[in-house]
Amino acid sequence: IKLWGGRFVGDTDPIMEMFNASIAYDKRMWDADIRGSKAYVKALEKAELVTTEEMENILHGMDQIHDEWSKGVFEVKPGDEDIHTANERRLKELIGEPAGKLHTGRSRNDQVVTDMRLWLRDAISTLKRNALQLITTMVERAAVEMDVLFPGYTHMQRAQPIRWSHWLLSHAVALSRDLERLHEIRRRVNVLPLGRYTHTMFWIDCVFGHVELAFDDISINSMDATGQRDFVAEFLFWASLCLTHLSKMAEDLMLYSTKEFSFLVLSDAYSTGSSLMPQKKNADSLELIRSKAGRVFGRCAGFLMTLKGLPSTYNKDLQEDKEAMFDCYDTVHAVLQVTTGVLSTIKINRGVMEAALSPDMLATDLAYYLVRKGVPFREAHGISGKAVFLAESKSILLNQLTVEELRTASPLFSSDVSAVWDYSSSVEQYSAPGGTAKSSVAAQVEHLRTWLKKQ
Ligand code: ARG
Repeated sequence: IKLWGGRFVGDTDPIMEMFNASIAYDKRMWDADIRGSKAYVKALEKAELVTTEEMENILHGMDQIHDEWSKGVFEVKPGDEDIHTANERRLKELIGEPAGKLHTGRSRNDQVVTDMRLWLRDAISTLKRNALQLITTMVERAAVEMDVLFPGYTHMQRAQPIRWSHWLLSHAVALSRDLERLHEIRRRVNVLPLGRYTHTMFWIDCVFGHVELAFDDISINSMDATGQRDFVAEFLFWASLCLTHLSKMAEDLMLYSTKEFSFLVLSDAYSTGSSLMPQKKNADSLELIRSKAGRVFGRCAGFLMTLKGLPSTYNKDLQEDKEAMFDCYDTVHAVLQVTTGVLSTIKINRGVMEAALSPDMLATDLAYYLVRKGVPFREAHGISGKAVFLAESKSILLNQLTVEELRTASPLFSSDVSAVWDYSSSVEQYSAPGGTAKSSVAAQVEHLRTWLKKQ
């Protein structure tokens, strides 16, 4: 028996029945659906549309349904199209007639969007906790390994010596913005949708529902409330951006953990082997972290395509919102936890990282040496470039050029140039805010620690 079956004489085609149903995935919102209905029936009682006794019956029935779901014994029956129909069908079985009053003045279109918002609000809280854990792991690791230097790259070419912590924090900072964005989104998610409530001939106390369900705000237009899903699209975009950041970080980690680099050793807990080659240890965790960005972006792009050009208010196309939302949530939830695991167990090879530095990475410092002697930077850059060329043509390292050889590029070079060839003092020159000097990186750690406390 269908909730909407009154005007129908023919049966639904079985394939259509399956095609139409969303219960297989929207049953995840069982708790939100019950919370929404419990608040709604209280509002109905205030509006004198159900008696206090009927309300008590419905509330009690809803609690029993809650119990069944949480114990895993709720039985989904053929004909339960979605979570809303399933819960209402069960309510009728449990308490009989008054169950039919629950739907007074509301539509499933209101219910679905209320449930989605309640569900996503909780999901966002979980993701915030996951992200905070990850950022904390990165910041604390950066604090501990502050003295480790390694090559910084641009265009994947060796650029300048940096602190390993500087690299770690660069990704932590991006994630902190993702967390702030998530917080922003929550504000727009946590709005009580007033759909048919306001179309209805009955006056229902929406302010009551809003307080009861702890919504921050109430939608001001019923057609907007039931017909728009930008709060879902925003979440999908958020997931795409957050995983894009993590894919970039995973790519570096993967590179740094190759035999050729050997800067890092991924823990066994986050690696897998080859079924053929016994020596192999594959960075599957990092590869999957990298790949998931594509998956969630696909969900985001796909759902925007679904939304594009839809007529006003609810259309069944909107049922597609749930799988996209659940999948993106599950994916980000898993990725954040695995990334935390990877980063808290990965071992660094400090010796290899520092041995990977080479004097040519100090060519910029060589130019600054001349800048300090009054040479304009452009000119100093050219002179240092000549020195690099000279060393390369002699097949020696940049710091192996004698002062006399350096003087062929500029007469301003003297024996004090030897002070340039020190990686530790090189990084210390970059003490401006955001730089790689110890004081600057320590300030970044402190900044993030303070920020973390406020979250
Ligand atoms: N299962 C539907 C969804 O997820 C619920 C709303 C159905 N509304 C309707 N008028 N058929 O969107």
